[in-house]
Amino acid sequence: TTYSEEDLYRPNFHFTPKKGWMNDPNGMFYKDGFYHLYFQHYPNGNTWGPMHWGHAISTDMVTWKEMPIAIYPDEKGYIFSGSSVVDVNNSSGFSKNGIAPIIAMFTYHDMDGEKAGKLNYQSQAIAYSLDEGQTFTKYSENPVIKNLGIKDFRDPKMFWDSIHKKWLMVLAAGQKIMFYSSLNLKDWKLESDFGDGIGGHGGVWECPDLFPMKVQGTDEVKWVLLVSINPGGPNGGSATQYFIGDFDGKKFTIDASFENDLNKSEYKSIWIDYGKDNYAGVTWSNIPDSDGRKLFVGWMSNWDYANVVPTERWRSSMTVARQIELQKENASYRLLFQPVKELTKYKSTKYKKEDIAIKALTKIIDSDAIDLSSVEIQFKISDLKNSGFTFKLTNKQDDTLAFGYNTSDKNFFVDRRKSGKTAFSEKFADRISVAKRTSTNVNISGTIILDKTSIELFFDNGETVMTEIFFPNSPFDKLSIEPKDQEFILDNIEIHKLNI
Ligand code: FRU
Repeated sequence: TTYSEEDLYRPNFHFTPKKGWMNDPNGMFYKDGFYHLYFQHYPNGNTWGPMHWGHAISTDMVTWKEMPIAIYPDEKGYIFSGSSVVDVNNSSGFSKNGIAPIIAMFTYHDMDGEKAGKLNYQSQAIAYSLDEGQTFTKYSENPVIKNLGIKDFRDPKMFWDSIHKKWLMVLAAGQKIMFYSSLNLKDWKLESDFGDGIGGHGGVWECPDLFPMKVQGTDEVKWVLLVSINPGGPNGGSATQYFIGDFDGKKFTIDASFENDLNKSEYKSIWIDYGKDNYAGVTWSNIPDSDGRKLFVGWMSNWDYANVVPTERWRSSMTVARQIELQKENASYRLLFQPVKELTKYKSTKYKKEDIAIKALTKIIDSDAIDLSSVEIQFKISDLKNSGFTFKLTNKQDDTLAFGYNTSDKNFFVDRRKSGKTAFSEKFADRISVAKRTSTNVNISGTIILDKTSIELFFDNGETVMTEIFFPNSPFDKLSIEPKDQEFILDNIEIHKLNI
């Protein structure tokens, strides 16, 4: 069989533009039944170029409809990453005929300024939409935040702070995050900054996000600060770290126990995802209180190789939308990430096995039973004893994507060294691993989301997440599991076709 690029690599259900380059998710908001997703986009080429905001909409964050480009670059520069809010009370004054304006804030990136060696080539600008986010009018007085000479001054993430009753915005500024507030979304006041001497500084700070969350099962509120960094990730290249603390409307103060955890960690960072392919992710704004979820999506690639992955017509996709929860366990705060529950309604054929003794390499299922390029898998092992395990996805060419748990170092791992095409970048073919959080336990559970070119592993109820992309020479059509060291019982495994 020969496969077209579309057959082999166009994801079944992860958002990818029809044509051209994509990077960060931008400006996500929810309004009247629609989730909006904008994205860094170069429609005229398949590598990074003059940035636009592409646009897609969805009623469930699972199936996406690509819309016309929403914001185009102009003489002031490329349109870099940013955010949008629904200005329900018209504090900006951009409303017409009673329509609540949608306000986008983005970074202007002035290429000429950069080439001329200036430092202040990035500034913040706004635009408003009165047609449900389809088209935007740029504000005549842009930029709203000038740059006084900070290189890397970008990616504004705004939100309505219902606790302190004002608009807030977080911005990456050099090796710090700056906090701004506003009453009209046009005039912004610098309140404070955060980041000196704390967290990972192995690369540029980018794409921050800040939001309050209730600790699971309590009324305690903590603030979460996401900061993407490139390079300097745990496996090289791009990754997103987070901080837990308090925010008084002006200043972010890191929680003492979280700071202690950070200082103990190898990278002085705690990451939202330990795979190589979840970057620049942020949360949706304007989710109704009646829903109350914190909803996230990331760009499923890595600057280490994003420009050279083996697709031509388009490049890269987003992760599945994820729900974030904040957990407190033994005085440690941690984020949990799980795929959004909306995926459930696409589940069809179920294949289920229980209490299988895994003594040697054992086939679980092949594509005669279920097409493995669009599935959700759930598994549970309640007593691993002293063993580890390796799941293997394989095809006729013997391409193999391996992932599982290793006993000797108590690490989860993903190994894509033999997963198909890897030669496009020396940074792609690798085996990555991360310590299991509850490392004394011998029980492991997981949810696995599989598409044609990606795997998203949510171990132990979302405690440890690993997202990785791959490019097999033909579709993976068999899933097996192998014990490492010792026989154990796979308590159950359920495989659901996702009919998306
Ligand atoms: C992150 C990033 C942002 C920037 C955008 C440019 O991936 O570098 O900081 O706004 O991409 O496309």
